[in-house]
Amino acid sequence: MIAHLFNAPLGESETAVGVGTVGSSEAIMLAGLAFKRKWQNKRRAEGKPCDKPNIVTGANVQVCWEKFANYFEVELKEVKLREGYYVMDPVKAVELVDENTICVAAILGSTLNGEFEDVKLLNDLLLEKNKQTGWDTPIHVDAASGGFIAPFLYPELEWDFRLPLVKSINVSGHKYGLVYAGIGWVIWRSKEDLPEELIFHINYLGADQPTFTLNFSKGSSQVIAQYYQLIRLGYEGYQNVMENCRDNALVLKRGLEKTGRFNIVSKDNGVPVVAFSLKENSQYNEFDVSDMLRSFQWIVPAYTMPPDAQHVTVLRVVVREDFSCTLAERLVDDITKVLHKLDTLPAKLSVNMISSYQKGKNGTVVKKTTLETQREITNAWKKFVMDRKTKVIC
Ligand SMILES: Cc1ncc(COP(=O)(O)O)c(C=O)c1O
Repeated sequence: MIAHLFNAPLGESETAVGVGTVGSSEAIMLAGLAFKRKWQNKRRAEGKPCDKPNIVTGANVQVCWEKFANYFEVELKEVKLREGYYVMDPVKAVELVDENTICVAAILGSTLNGEFEDVKLLNDLLLEKNKQTGWDTPIHVDAASGGFIAPFLYPELEWDFRLPLVKSINVSGHKYGLVYAGIGWVIWRSKEDLPEELIFHINYLGADQPTFTLNFSKGSSQVIAQYYQLIRLGYEGYQNVMENCRDNALVLKRGLEKTGRFNIVSKDNGVPVVAFSLKENSQYNEFDVSDMLRSFQWIVPAYTMPPDAQHVTVLRVVVREDFSCTLAERLVDDITKVLHKLDTLPAKLSVNMISSYQKGKNGTVVKKTTLETQREITNAWKKFVMDRKTKVIC
């Protein structure tokens, strides 16, 4: 069903394969391992070295990609972000690809702002590079959140197995798949994309059981729950839920815009996530807003963007099926109250309190760059918030 949803070619000769996992993290470990093994086998057959595999991603990848790279000894080559552009730039990603690249990983629904990366453009640029170089670098799509959004809200968007270089896709059942925590999926375009040697066959449970997972035993409840939801709701049911999430995200976004105090850094046509930054943060910043929202029973995380946009701090709200329109309106009201409260407090830390100069080499005094000053302010704020948190006795 999920392979169908991702437009896998399901003919007689082409059969997609997949496994259920604990979440997208395990799914990504397995997909990465399959790419690494396939690349190594090809290199060995060509008599070429295969000890320096790398993977190309954006700096916005979720931590599970860093884990994969670390645990499975693959170099992570990250495309840096920049202010105003918070996803992987396909042009720069393709520039980083070399003969040791096992795959390029694109994200459909960035963790940080819900934005979809341009997988179609990546596919086209990579096809061109493969043609020029003779390599056949493939693409993996990390659709942890977007895999259950795009097929229902943007069915025309080409991001999945319709693109020839997309060889595997992961999705979390416990994000927009509408199942409790503990289920993910990874699908390969065809059997040839999953090296047979990675699949173990056991028969001591009474029949041949092929297994390609990091753990062995696990409960089946989430698999059944996913199956139930897919059958119970069907395409139309999922579409209704996702449309509702998108509409409520828009209510929240418009409410925040109306305050005139925020820049919205998420996109309307991504995952229903609203990520936003303060327009003016010299008196207080996003960490302070997040901190004070807790007294209104809201936990809205504030965080800094990855390099080279680490001077940008955002707040993020993920709109799921149980986040109603009324809740969206109440959150806007509470954020407005928090802003009024913070406006009336004396400035605790401001740009003026951070020196614009620092000691350079040989003891000379040099002016800091805007980025350095911004970073220092963010760090001072983080410390301020953390100090306050550790003083609270729970
Ligand atoms: C883009 C992306 N990939 C992977 C993951 C990891 O997913 P899971 O929590 O299902 O292991 C996340 C989780 O936030 C994510 O946003």
